[in-house]
Amino acid sequence: MKPRDHTKLLGELAEAYTQHSPRSASLNETAMQTMVDGGSHSLRLIKPFPPRIVSAKGAWLKDEDGHDLLDFWQGHHANILGHNPEVVTAVLAQAFQSGYGLLTGFTESVQIETAEILCRQTGAERVRFTISGAMATMYAILLARAFTQRELVMKVGGGWHGAQPWGVIGVHFYASGGEPWQVESQGLPPGLSQQVINTRFNDPDALHDHFRQYGDRLACFIVEPFVGAGGFIFATPEYLRAARQLTDQYGVVLIFDEVVSGFRFRAGDLGALYGVKPDLAAFAKGMGGGMPVAAVAGRADIMKLCGREGGNKVMFVGGTYSCHPASMLAARAQLTYLVAHEEQIYPHIACLGEKARRVMEETFAQEGIYVRCTGYGNEVVPGSSVVIPNFPYEEGRELATPEDVNDPAVCDTTLRDKVCQLALLLEDVHVVHGGGSLTAAHTEADIAFFSEACHRAARRIKAGLGGRTATWT
Ligand SMILES: Cc1ncc(COP(=O)(O)O)c(C=O)c1O
Repeated sequence: MKPRDHTKLLGELAEAYTQHSPRSASLNETAMQTMVDGGSHSLRLIKPFPPRIVSAKGAWLKDEDGHDLLDFWQGHHANILGHNPEVVTAVLAQAFQSGYGLLTGFTESVQIETAEILCRQTGAERVRFTISGAMATMYAILLARAFTQRELVMKVGGGWHGAQPWGVIGVHFYASGGEPWQVESQGLPPGLSQQVINTRFNDPDALHDHFRQYGDRLACFIVEPFVGAGGFIFATPEYLRAARQLTDQYGVVLIFDEVVSGFRFRAGDLGALYGVKPDLAAFAKGMGGGMPVAAVAGRADIMKLCGREGGNKVMFVGGTYSCHPASMLAARAQLTYLVAHEEQIYPHIACLGEKARRVMEETFAQEGIYVRCTGYGNEVVPGSSVVIPNFPYEEGRELATPEDVNDPAVCDTTLRDKVCQLALLLEDVHVVHGGGSLTAAHTEADIAFFSEACHRAARRIKAGLGGRTATWT
């Protein structure tokens, strides 16, 4: 399907939004004078300009124009308890007053407890902390390559493991209508892209084929048990079991990227719900309580390669801000709370997630716009707190891979990413890829607010589409 042209509708929405948020518009012009595109994270820099946020509490944000925005982006899905959760901020406030919070560059005792919780909740034998998800996945790959003494890295096409050399190859991987299309970053070392094999998510047959072809040369297979940026899609149990069996058979390190999924669906790793244990895992977002903290965790015999016992073969030495005390305090507070309240938090946010998905599907359907949300659980994940609305051109189209949801020939991605974002901002709702994540701070009243906002946004979108609705054909 040829992607639909939304230029006119986007122009109308941008104009209305500029009138709605004049102060953010003006700040954007100032920001553009010094920062590339007016900021430092491409996804945040929405067009025509992002809302400039002044404060955030729980499910809500305040922007420079005085709007209260219901937030579903929630710190790139890091917030399980909402923005600025008391359980974390109280500990940090106290630490900053007592001369502890900015105690950079020492080893203290909080990191021991944080590591203990992480190992206990994920079944990892050893952990080393770092400061971002991208660094964690990069170090995990270095460890795997050193451990196996092999070169090739296999990943899922369309998966996102952060902006690190292997992670930026095959992020856009659309299989429709010919050869897969890989967009790579320029500036990478020569030959790096030949070291990365992309396989199709949730496709055990493709996995078997790739292992038959490359298995003896593969260092690792890195996969998200729940594809985050690639479209909010859970792995099938069959797929993860095949991944474990094949990596064992070929002596390949299985890395789970749990940067999004870790602590979002239970107080630990998502792999445990599938009964599949990786050799290494990367954690970040959900464990930090809003602070920058990440970790590589897993088998002691692999992890030791970055330590004395393993001859310091992998230079995962840590950096200035590794194990930053404020981050460790936040992580300890967050993890302790999540573990203690696991039975209340996760069913609650999964229930809100279910409601948010239904709201999107039903409100848009009432305007004749077919939406199929991703984020639904499966036979091993009973429910989930995440939602992305997709607009497939063909009703009933299966949405099981990043290619399915991100290929503009399959789904109307502009409608999801750009039109919905602006239409919902005009209703004081802040989304990413049209949706986002629910937190323990969201309430039933927020869902009701969201429902009203979706009704109005869908009506506006329908009017802008000029009657082209339903299944689009
Ligand atoms: C699955 C996954 N892995 C890794 C990363 C990178 O994490 P960070 O942004 O902290 O570098 C992300 C970020 O969104 C992610 O979604």
